[in-house]
Amino acid sequence: MSDQTYLTLDKLTLAYGRTPAVKDLDLAIRKGELLALLGPSGCGKTTTMRAIAGLMSVGGGRITLDGRDITKLAANKREIGLVFQSYALFPHLTVFDNVAFGLKLQGMRGDELRRTVEGGLKTVGLLEFAGRKTPDLSGGQQQRVALARSLVMQPKVLMLDEPLSNLDARLRLEMRTELQRVQKESGVTMIFVTHDQIEALALADRIVVMRGGAIEQIGTPEEIYNHPVSSFVADFVGFENIFPLKDGRLVAGNTAIDVSGTVPDAGGLAWRPRAVPLGSGPLTGLVRGVSFAGNSREYVIEAPFGMVKAEVDAAAPVHSIGSEVRFDLPVAGAAVLHRFG
Ligand SMILES: Nc1ncnc2c1ncn2[C@@H]1O[C@H](COP(=O)(O)OP(=O)(O)OP(=O)(O)O)[C@@H](O)[C@H]1O
Ligand SMILES: [Mg+2]
Repeated sequence: MSDQTYLTLDKLTLAYGRTPAVKDLDLAIRKGELLALLGPSGCGKTTTMRAIAGLMSVGGGRITLDGRDITKLAANKREIGLVFQSYALFPHLTVFDNVAFGLKLQGMRGDELRRTVEGGLKTVGLLEFAGRKTPDLSGGQQQRVALARSLVMQPKVLMLDEPLSNLDARLRLEMRTELQRVQKESGVTMIFVTHDQIEALALADRIVVMRGGAIEQIGTPEEIYNHPVSSFVADFVGFENIFPLKDGRLVAGNTAIDVSGTVPDAGGLAWRPRAVPLGSGPLTGLVRGVSFAGNSREYVIEAPFGMVKAEVDAAAPVHSIGSEVRFDLPVAGAAVLHRFG
């Protein structure tokens, strides 16, 4: 992956008629990067991809690819591949002919065509299925045909919109690894949409968290996972104890809570259940739920200010349901949120 920006969105604004969908979106993607777009339904992920692919007109702003302004360039001249959730393979054609389709349209024939298609099928591990009709393939295999069909076109950018969402859990995991391998081997710049934070964290070089047509945070998986900038992102990546800060104190409902450590000047603090120590500390609550989770035990604690979730080693002494327990919300173990809400 190079350090230079390859695809740039500059104050991109998109709308469906009078309904705004994306506003002033700035994004710089490096060559060879695998970028994940993460965010709730309706936040503008597909719309952004459609605009990059040239499938919708731009209301404002600019798209540049490889040093060239492509904002107004026709879709078929952009050298951008887009794979949708329903991969729209041709059911009457063989795997080979599905992959060959776009190349033939470009005028490729004979040996070159055969070699290119076979190369693509090899990359996705489907060479022995070349002669099969696509309806006779599994969901994961069909997915790989769609991937090969896009890859052989050698797009400058390959975009995948929820490519794994209609696969079962096991196949999904397999395809996830496959996608990562194909991307690293081919070096193609890839943008993929997912609503699954675990998938985004596992696959991407960087994650873009979108909210309401704008970017809430961009960062590496580690940054997003450990340092969410807002309660919105924290919630999205599994922080279960999220509180606003006011006048140097933590606030929950109508109560101000004392936490241990120096309280930073920030919008809020968030703790994963793992970061909440049980058995000692300045706070007390009643155990309302205990569940065994193999290596750990998960507790739901009812405190005067609300529910707190804690997770401790399974080997630690058990606090039974209904008992009073001391706990802490240590600032040292919290993610500091710049924004709350
Ligand atoms: N064809 C359309 N006509 C009008 N509004 C649309 C159209 N397509 C999408 N929208 C609106 O634009 C906004 C962004 O939609 P978009 O499809 O980009 O969301 P998304 O992030 O891809 O969501 P999902 O995760 O559900 O696929 C939404 O408010 C949506 O209702
Ligand atoms: Mg979508």
